[in-house]
Amino acid sequence: MNHLTIGVLFGGRSGEHEVSLASARSVLHALDREKYRIVEIGITKDGAWLSGEGALEALTAGRMEGLTPVTLLPDPTRPGLRDLQTGELVAALDVVFPVLHGTFGEDGTLQGLLEMAGVAYVGAGVAGSAVGMDKDLFKAVMRASGVPVVDWVILRRSEIEADIQGVIDRIETALEGDYPFFVKPANLGSSVGISKCRSRSDLYEGLLEAARYDRRILVEKGLNAREIEISVLGNDQPEASIPGEIRPADEFYTYEAKYQDERSELLIPAPIPEALAEEMCRTAVAAYKAIDCAGMARVDFLLDRESGAYYLNEVNTLPGFTEISMYPKLWEASGLPYPRLLDRLIDLALERQQERQKTIYIRE
Ligand SMILES: Nc1ncnc2c1ncn2[C@@H]1O[C@H](COP(=O)(O)OP(=O)(O)O)[C@@H](O)[C@H]1O
Ligand SMILES: [Mg+2]
Repeated sequence: MNHLTIGVLFGGRSGEHEVSLASARSVLHALDREKYRIVEIGITKDGAWLSGEGALEALTAGRMEGLTPVTLLPDPTRPGLRDLQTGELVAALDVVFPVLHGTFGEDGTLQGLLEMAGVAYVGAGVAGSAVGMDKDLFKAVMRASGVPVVDWVILRRSEIEADIQGVIDRIETALEGDYPFFVKPANLGSSVGISKCRSRSDLYEGLLEAARYDRRILVEKGLNAREIEISVLGNDQPEASIPGEIRPADEFYTYEAKYQDERSELLIPAPIPEALAEEMCRTAVAAYKAIDCAGMARVDFLLDRESGAYYLNEVNTLPGFTEISMYPKLWEASGLPYPRLLDRLIDLALERQQERQKTIYIRE
């Protein structure tokens, strides 16, 4: 049988390095060895690419000695994974599966390299990844597409540095002084750098904190909201799973509530009325198409407890992917078990590459 060679990328330079290792453990465990030859490619926190049998275990244990430094060239005439020292081919890759979250994995930068290299890969392309990652650009596209989002203000770090009191005045005017506000770095994940601000002094602290993590900072009206998530899968005809609900153990879904506090609950299906679930699924698919997503994304909503209105909060184009993560659990509950979900994502990556090959770049 002709095995497809899948390069599984994990680790990486983002704050979600450990989350990525956990996701990759599940992916490597479930990929069907009858169908696929697996090449493990670990990226260290410094950004070094290392490959070899047991690379995941080595990265997890911090013992990298036995691994081979490798690279992927942006040169499609020299394809495949290459030995960094000799330039020799280590493995031809049919599909790359980036099991990476956040910066340098989910934000379009890696996708740019994969496009240059001409290799098929799982998930969204450059634009879908970058817009999905950037909370301000994402919300602007949603608003232009008629998808409801919570009102927000975007600021630059330089404005905060120059005149933080003036910035606070402007935020209070734009958001009608209606505390609490949520302050967020524009490009990050796992709730890092996010604060819920109940007062001017909280806002002051929150702005300084978020400005450590990004040049661009969002401030949003804070809602008293339920958190509903929907998994979307597909390329040009994406489909939505049933919705799930997160019940965070904390005041909001903080880093601790996401990864440390076992009291955070996932409810599948989300206990919401059928008609609302259907409408949110349609909205999730519309949002996915609006940013030209491909492969997969988890689409996260806020459902206002007071008004009953829903708002699209964000999309995650490489969502948490352990067997107990929301993205695969929602598919499992919708009839697609974890190993079949992986097959589907690999098929979609190949389909998208075929689609791309139809495009000509030079006038004939
Ligand atoms: N406008 C808001 N109103 C209420 N809660 C919010 C709001 N924005 C974010 N949150 C809370 O903060 C969490 C993290 O924010 P989110 O925008 O999802 O960032 P991240 O990309 O880090 O997950 C959400 O899951 C939710 O609990
Ligand atoms: Mg989130």
